[in-house]
Amino acid sequence: MGQPSHARTPDQWWRSAVIHQVYVRSFADGDGDGTGDLAGVRARLPYLAELGVDALWFTPWYLSPLKDGGYDVADYRAIDPAFGTLAEAEKLIAEARELGIRTIVDVVPNHVSDQHVWFRQALAGGPERALFHFRPGRGARGELPPNGWRSQFGGPAWTRVADGDWYLHLFAPEQPDLNWAHPAVRREHEDILRFWFERGVAGVRIDSAALLVKDPRLPDFTEGRDPHPYVDRDELHDIYRAWRAIADEYGGVFVGEVWLPDAERFARYLRPDELHTAFNFSFMTCPWEATRLRTSIDETLAEHAPVGAPATWVLCNHDVTRTVTRYGRDDTAFDFATKAFGTPTDLALGTRRARAAALLSLALPGSVYLYQGEELGLPEAEIPVERIQDPMHFRSGGADPGRDGCRVPLPWAAEEPYAGFGSRAEPWLPQPAGWSSYAVDRQARDPGSMLTLYREAIRIRPVFGDGPLTWLPTPDGVLAFTRAEGVLCVVNLADTPADLPAHTELLLGSAPLDADGRLPKDTAVWLRA
Ligand code: GLC
Repeated sequence: MGQPSHARTPDQWWRSAVIHQVYVRSFADGDGDGTGDLAGVRARLPYLAELGVDALWFTPWYLSPLKDGGYDVADYRAIDPAFGTLAEAEKLIAEARELGIRTIVDVVPNHVSDQHVWFRQALAGGPERALFHFRPGRGARGELPPNGWRSQFGGPAWTRVADGDWYLHLFAPEQPDLNWAHPAVRREHEDILRFWFERGVAGVRIDSAALLVKDPRLPDFTEGRDPHPYVDRDELHDIYRAWRAIADEYGGVFVGEVWLPDAERFARYLRPDELHTAFNFSFMTCPWEATRLRTSIDETLAEHAPVGAPATWVLCNHDVTRTVTRYGRDDTAFDFATKAFGTPTDLALGTRRARAAALLSLALPGSVYLYQGEELGLPEAEIPVERIQDPMHFRSGGADPGRDGCRVPLPWAAEEPYAGFGSRAEPWLPQPAGWSSYAVDRQARDPGSMLTLYREAIRIRPVFGDGPLTWLPTPDGVLAFTRAEGVLCVVNLADTPADLPAHTELLLGSAPLDADGRLPKDTAVWLRA
């Protein structure tokens, strides 16, 4: 059994860290070619230090044809030349550490790029075929895929190759799935972990962590029949126990991308000899409603408690609709299935709620993930169809707008070309009109900006201490809790202003109180009791 979820010792920084997610391609363009890069990140490290974050999670920066934004890795031991070099990555890790910021890299064990040497050799008929899932097709001439599995991006999960066999890809055809029953696949990934831990990274995010293992018979999926042929298979836990032993050698930590509705199954990944943490997608997809949020928080804390793992709090990432946009819509939940072009959005309302949500999530016990641009209150952009790059859009037959709308290059300086993202070439995704109004340089000078709120909140956050969460009695629609150190967080999601509990000091508010000193709708405050 691990420590209680609120415990924090210096080597357990990850139990209460604020972790900033860097989508390198869209962060800052150091060489001016239109694509973000490591030089851009290195130049902006002081910004990240001033924001006060404890760690950076880099989405994949490895050699890649970028068919899925880098989640199609051709070589784990090389940096994509569009982003820089391995030597630069090493410098970046060291420079960040000097500023007190740790680095988390992203590994993608479920699949590789079709340009990875293993897959090229497999296509050439080599023994590497056994490292993937190649099968003959069904039908008289093998013209039908081996089973009916669907890609997570839409369409069949199988593609046929020249000699007539089919290979499995749970994502795009350019992302063939690895065969985790093969010992060479396990050995290779254990070596990749060591490679990055040796280079000083403090943690690893595990992409699609619950999908690696397939039922070797590759049976069709039957609704309601357990176990699922490829989601959350029991064999996964052996893999992660072996990984944990490696992480422990280096003092490294894991965060798993584990999308599972079943809280008990989810918590198995967080047992003391497996992953340290996993993303909280229940909270991330939760609508802006008091009872639903409270239930999500309670369930999160309850599912983590027995395994002693800290919770994580996530409002958005590079796959989902940006927070200010989502909260400004009729349906404030997130669901991939309901994404659509042209959804009406009240950005002022969404921003107001996102400010309150920032104070809510930063007050909860556990670690917080902040996706680049969230601290600027960037909205989801509607990308002109001819500029969309995300395979999710294409494989949906054009119905799904895809995920590019949350990946638009950041605005750094309002008066500079491309809002200061880069200097020479147009950014790889277009920045919408008005993007410079969100620029870092403007917000840094504005006491009412989202950036100022985040900076203040991250600076003040330690006042909540290590205490567990205790709910206080409140009227319907209001959430209030304390964390044992006499500090309260109160959030009003009701339609009318709420009276505040007794307090001696207002530490921070997402919006001003009303003339009667009451907490307006869609507002959060931190109070000293
Ligand atoms: C994860 C990533 C997503 C990627 C997918 C396939 O869900 O977050 O961006 O497309 O895995 O690697």
